[in-house]
Amino acid sequence: MKFFVDTADVAAIAELNDLGMVDGVTTNPSLILKSGRDITEVTKEICDLVDGPVSAEVVATQADAMIAEGRKLAEIAENITVKLPLTWDGLKACKTLTDEGKMVNVTLCFSANQALLAAKAGASFISPFIGRLDDLNVDGMELIEDIRTIYDNYGYETEILAASIRTVNHMKEAALIGADVATAPPGVIKQMANHVLTDKGLAAFLSDWEKTGQKIL
Ligand code: G3P
Repeated sequence: MKFFVDTADVAAIAELNDLGMVDGVTTNPSLILKSGRDITEVTKEICDLVDGPVSAEVVATQADAMIAEGRKLAEIAENITVKLPLTWDGLKACKTLTDEGKMVNVTLCFSANQALLAAKAGASFISPFIGRLDDLNVDGMELIEDIRTIYDNYGYETEILAASIRTVNHMKEAALIGADVATAPPGVIKQMANHVLTDKGLAAFLSDWEKTGQKIL
């Protein structure tokens, strides 16, 4: 499973990128607000840092304006993926932009039918929002499973990008189901390294080592 980082925090992306943990980045208007940076400036910096796709989201809601914004965002760098909301206008913009050879990530997906439409419109990525479904007591992972089945039934090449990931369990479950990509905040990716038994075991080893009185260096 590919890891995308869901943030516009350049320092956090750089730290994970140095460890080979970053296959791409996703941003959205809320994450740009959180960064306090100019969208073009920060997105360019991220694109220079990361080789993989970097999603930058349009804010227009009419297809023509979405297409114009998408083209402008795509000029920032070659690895820009234009992010469009899953509305009828968003699907129209998706078709036009993918026909032009641009990568498109269709976001705010909450149903398998929406995902089916995005694949037919040529989306490179579909972003089902797991956490926001869980918030409503609906199992977000079931949606990932349904989309996996549907895409595999018909050989759609649109990649399933599990989004709105909030926990390390979301990461594991997305990987088990076979999501192509998971996009998660940097903190969730780092938390995947944690285990209480690792901490406990390490403490015991260090305490025993101390008793040997030896040194490695
Ligand atoms: O990838 C989409 C993400 O940014 C939304 O996450 O936690 O706001 O639902 P969240």
